[in-house]
Amino acid sequence: MSEMSVTPRRSVKAHAIAVASAALTTVLVAFGIIYFYFVSPAASAGPAQPIPFSHRLHVGIKEIDCRFCHNTVEVGRNAGMPPAEKCLYCHQHIIPQHPWIRELHRFADSGETIPWVKVTYLPDHANFSHQQHITAGVNCADCHGPVEAMDRVYEENRLLMGFCVDCHSQQESRHAILDCLNCHQ
Ligand code: HEC
Ligand code: HEC
Ligand code: HEC
Ligand code: HEC
Ligand code: HEC
Repeated sequence: MSEMSVTPRRSVKAHAIAVASAALTTVLVAFGIIYFYFVSPAASAGPAQPIPFSHRLHVGIKEIDCRFCHNTVEVGRNAGMPPAEKCLYCHQHIIPQHPWIRELHRFADSGETIPWVKVTYLPDHANFSHQQHITAGVNCADCHGPVEAMDRVYEENRLLMGFCVDCHSQQESRHAILDCLNCHQ
């Protein structure tokens, strides 16, 4: 007799546990999806841009060279940003009716520069030039991380003084580049 009153209670409890664990699993799966699609640092942690340009697509899959778009990186302080016309070399013919490509045309026609949101900052008192680094054979990824895998560029390394000095102090065969005045003027 006592068995009979216990069994149903057990199954109610088992049922409640099953429901609770199914609910928990659903929450975890949903969280996982949200994390990997919207938050994952590997895909899209950077700021939203006026046109959702993807380095993962253009560099990772289409293998366009960094220098095609950032064309002053070997010769100047700044790497340079591509004007809309440069995008239109291809997009005149590739998906020309895509809404974002029409937006590109709008920028090109009006002559307005695309207000790309900056990701990497240095204060004005710091003296930095891409040219010195690219001609010395330093790779983009050493400072910027795996840009070719990013849908939205994010800051892989905070480019603080310690980051600059760490690398400089490892450059044995080169001339002294730890002097304060090399980086501050
Ligand atoms: C060398 C050629 C080339 C250049 C230069 C180029 N793209 Fe693309 N772009 C492509 C190709 C190829 C695709 C994929 C088209 C497709 O989905 O069929 C694409 C796709 C896109 C898409 C659509 C992505 C999507 O998710 O649907 C956007 C937006 C875009 N490009 C923006 C740009 C911008 C902005 C520039 C300039 C900074 C640029 N592209 C420069 C070749 C190029
Ligand atoms: C087809 C053109 C194109 C190519 C190729 C390209 N980029 Fe870019 N890059 C852009 C555009 C447009 C932006 C601004 C929007 C953005 O951040 O996605 C940008 C932004 C960046 C930024 C962020 C700049 C900031 O504000 O701090 C970095 C870093 C960068 N690119 C590095 C690279 C590297 C490294 C490569 C090669 C591995 C590369 N890019 C190839 C067009 C390009
Ligand atoms: C030694 C570190 C280092 C290397 C190597 C490096 N960058 Fe940069 N990059 C920086 C810093 C620091 C800034 C921010 C500069 C500023 O705000 O004045 C920057 C800014 C940028 C920007 C934003 C705006 C501009 O015009 O400068 C782009 C684009 C960029 N880098 C692309 C590249 C590409 C492409 C390569 C490789 C060909 C590369 N960088 C190699 C440190 C580096
Ligand atoms: C990944 C390594 C690396 C990082 C990170 C790095 N540098 Fe450099 N830097 C170099 C190399 C290599 C040279 C070239 C040295 C040579 O010409 O012998 C150089 C040269 C320089 C020079 C020229 C100095 C001279 O006397 O020729 C300056 C200025 C400079 N870097 C500033 C910076 C600043 C500012 C940062 C941080 C935002 C930085 N560097 C980050 C590797 C690096
Ligand atoms: C290899 C380049 C490099 C060298 C060498 C260097 N600095 Fe810097 N320093 C930087 C950069 C880049 C910043 C800006 C980023 C930051 O705030 O960390 C900076 C920032 C600073 C700041 C401001 C920090 C803050 O919190 O705002 C001071 C002060 C400073 N440096 C002093 C020095 C002195 C003193 C020396 C010599 C002993 C020196 N630096 C050598 C690159 C360098």
